[in-house]
Parts: sequence; C-alpha cells; structure tokens
Amino acid sequence: MSNRMWGGRFSAGPSAIMEEINASIDFDRKLYAQDIAGSKAHAEMLAARGIISEGDAGKIAEGLDAIKAEIDEGRFTFSRALEDIHMNVEQRLKELIGPAAGRLHTARSRNDQVATDFRLWVRDGLDHLDDQLAELMGALVARAGEHAGTVMPGFTHLQSAQPVTFGHHLLAYVEMLARDRGRVQDARRRLNECPLGAAALAGTSFPIDRHMTAASLGFDRPTANSLDSVSDRDFALEAMAAASIVAVHLSRLAEEIVIWSSAQFGFVRLSDAFSTGSSIMPQKRNPDAAELVRAKAGRIIGDMNALLIVMKGLPLAYQKDMQEDKEQVFDAFESLSLALAATTGMVGDLQPDIKRMAAAAGSGFSTATDLADWLVRVPGLPFRDAHHVTGRLVAMAAERGVELADLSLADMKTVHDGITEAVYDVLTVENSVRSRTSHGGTAPDNVRAEVKRWQALIG
Ligand code: ARG
Repeated sequence: MSNRMWGGRFSAGPSAIMEEINASIDFDRKLYAQDIAGSKAHAEMLAARGIISEGDAGKIAEGLDAIKAEIDEGRFTFSRALEDIHMNVEQRLKELIGPAAGRLHTARSRNDQVATDFRLWVRDGLDHLDDQLAELMGALVARAGEHAGTVMPGFTHLQSAQPVTFGHHLLAYVEMLARDRGRVQDARRRLNECPLGAAALAGTSFPIDRHMTAASLGFDRPTANSLDSVSDRDFALEAMAAASIVAVHLSRLAEEIVIWSSAQFGFVRLSDAFSTGSSIMPQKRNPDAAELVRAKAGRIIGDMNALLIVMKGLPLAYQKDMQEDKEQVFDAFESLSLALAATTGMVGDLQPDIKRMAAAAGSGFSTATDLADWLVRVPGLPFRDAHHVTGRLVAMAAERGVELADLSLADMKTVHDGITEAVYDVLTVENSVRSRTSHGGTAPDNVRAEVKRWQALIG
C-alpha cells in the first residue's frame, strides 16, 4: 500500500530496506512535545486568519493534547511505516478527530515543521545546559571559598612551577564556565527565530501570520528567508560547538581529578560515592566518573564533526541528508548533561589532602621565582642576572638534595653577597602565594574577593 500522507502518485509501498533507511521515528520521537506545540500554534494561527474554521482548530487542539498525553504515558504506538514523528502524530490525529486532521498541514511542510521542532528542542537543551553550568559554577565557587588559603603546586609542563592556592585553581574553571554560558546564551539568541510558515522552501500563498506562530512558540521573530529557514542547521552546529567547548573544559578538570587522586599525587580523595573498585586489585579506588567525563568530550566533539560533515556539501534547500542531524545533537546534549551532573557531584565530593598539597607545593624549588624577584627588589639586580644567580642556588640545593630554604646564609652568600637573612621570608610557600596580589593573582585575599564577586554574580 502506498503512503497515505504522500502516496497519491504512488501505486506500491516501499521495499523493506527503503522503509528501514527512510524512517526516523526511532529517534525523532524525542521531538514529540515540540512537534505537538508547533502544530497547535500553527492550527490556532490558521483559524485566526480564517484559513481553517475555529471548529476544526478546536478539534485539532484537543486531539493533539490527547496524543501528547498518550505519548507522555507510554500509550502511543509508533509506526515505522509512518516514517517520522510528524506523520505519526498526524495519522493518530486523523484516527481521533477524523477529516479535520487533514487541514492541519495547510500552509506548511514537514521541512519547516522539522526545522521548527528541532530548534525548539535545541533551545530547551541550551537552557538546560545554561542551568547546569550555573550549578557547577556554584559548586566550584563554594569549594574555592573553603580553600582560598590552601596551597598546592601550580604546574607548567606538568612540572612544579610556582605555588598557587587551590581556590585560585578552582576559580580558573569558573572563568571558563562563565565564558561557556556566554556562548550558550549567544547561540540561543541567534537560534531564536521561527522557521514555521516557510513551508516546503518557497513560502505559501495562504495569508498566514508568521509573527503570530513565532510569538506563541516563544521565538523573537520569524526567519526572514524561506530557503534559509528549511536548510539552515547552523543553530544546531553552533549549539554543538558551544557544547564541545564545555566538554573540553570538563575534560580538563576531569583529567586533573584523575591525576590528583592518583596514589602518586594524593592531592584529593573522592569518597566511595564517586569511586569504583577493581575486581582483581583490592587496593584500587578508581576515578571512573572523571575518566568517563573525559571520554564524553571525544564523543561530543565527534557528534559536532559528524553534523558539520553531513552539512558541508548540501545544496539549498532541504535534503534528506538533514534527517541525520538529530541523533548527534541528542547524543551530544544528553552526554553533556550527564557529564555536567557527574562533575558537579565530584566537585562537591572531593576532599583535598591539605598537608600533602602543601608539602608538594614547597618541593621542587617552587619558590625560585620568588627568590629571583627578591634579588631584583632588594639588592637591585637586573632580572636576567637575578635569574642566573637563582639558577646557581637551585643547582647547589639540588646537588645537596635539599630545598632552597635549607641552604645556609653563608652558602648563599658565596653565590651573591648581597643576599641577607630577609631572603628566607620569600622562600616559604605561604609567603609566596600571599605576595601574588597583582590583579588576577593567586593570593588568598584575591581569591576571597573573587569568591565574593562570583557569589554575587551567580546569586
Ligand atoms: N523526517 C524528516 C527529517 O527529519 C522530516 C522532513 C521530511 N521532509 C521531506 N521533504 N521528506 O528531516
């Protein structure tokens, strides 16, 4: 039997394999709430413009509400033969209300319908993402407040570089996530135009009111060009680009949690709630959640790439290739939502080992820069000379297997006789971080002020 929705010129149905490759209902059923909202807005507008009767519009709205309830409650039977969510809903509407259902598709096409549904879904996804980002920021800011004065090594090249505060380190991620929220909100602004009423590709001869449907679906305005309306997917690409950058940020934090929680570092401990054991090695506590967050980034970036590649060669306007836009977006957003929830959980859960962090912060000549700066400030050496003198002192300490603060004043004077007892003040980790008061520096006072600023911003 030919398809009842478009089969007028067909005498036979599709082959089994045609039906299999063509059907999207197995994944686009996720769009049902958006599809029904779009159809209700469309029918209401058609009636307001006298294109269909108020009576038919009323029946359509009631029928669509009933279908929404059926799907919500798992009572709806989806059919592959009906291809996609749009035709599944319309066919059921026909069963429920009869011929009036056939009037719903006046002045629209599945092309503008799917573009509208998908925008609505992505918009919800972006809003949810924004909320989750705010939550994670709140968790990081709270921990940063607790650890404004907790010292740890700062790294470059994963080699001890200079001491920093743990609070400062956590606030670095807050900065990243704040920019992420900016990207998410920005993508939402550009996305928020309504394609409904562009019809198949050229617009329609019916006297529709696209401003009305746009407003009732919460869009800022209708899209301006019908061809663009049905062929644009950059709202999805942009959302996935923003999501990919979030995922990269989460992955970097996850990687740090993996490193920090290793026995060799021992900077943080995740509780049993966020650790897993090994079935063979009884001593193990594995940071699986962090590892999986790290992996999600690869998956989400892959999703974005897949859609970029699907889109890159398509002529205007709608091409069926574009049906392959949804699974990646669903996967990216669902993966990211899980990754964000797990990260927020781990941030709240992790317990820093303050003593171990402090000991590590003081090892590896981490205050060498403080010493060089002191040589500039007190005996007045040019920085390059101070760097050289410090290097010789580091070499001396390394040779003896001690830290800089363990060298005697007499020994230090053999390298530069302008060095005085006062130098020992800058060799402690606490004094080092306390002195870093420049704008954006790691000093505990700075961190406390930043925590306050973020608390006020996040609310
Ligand atoms: N299931 C289709 C999609 O996701 C809906 C649009 C179909 N349009 C068409 N002209 N075949 O893209």
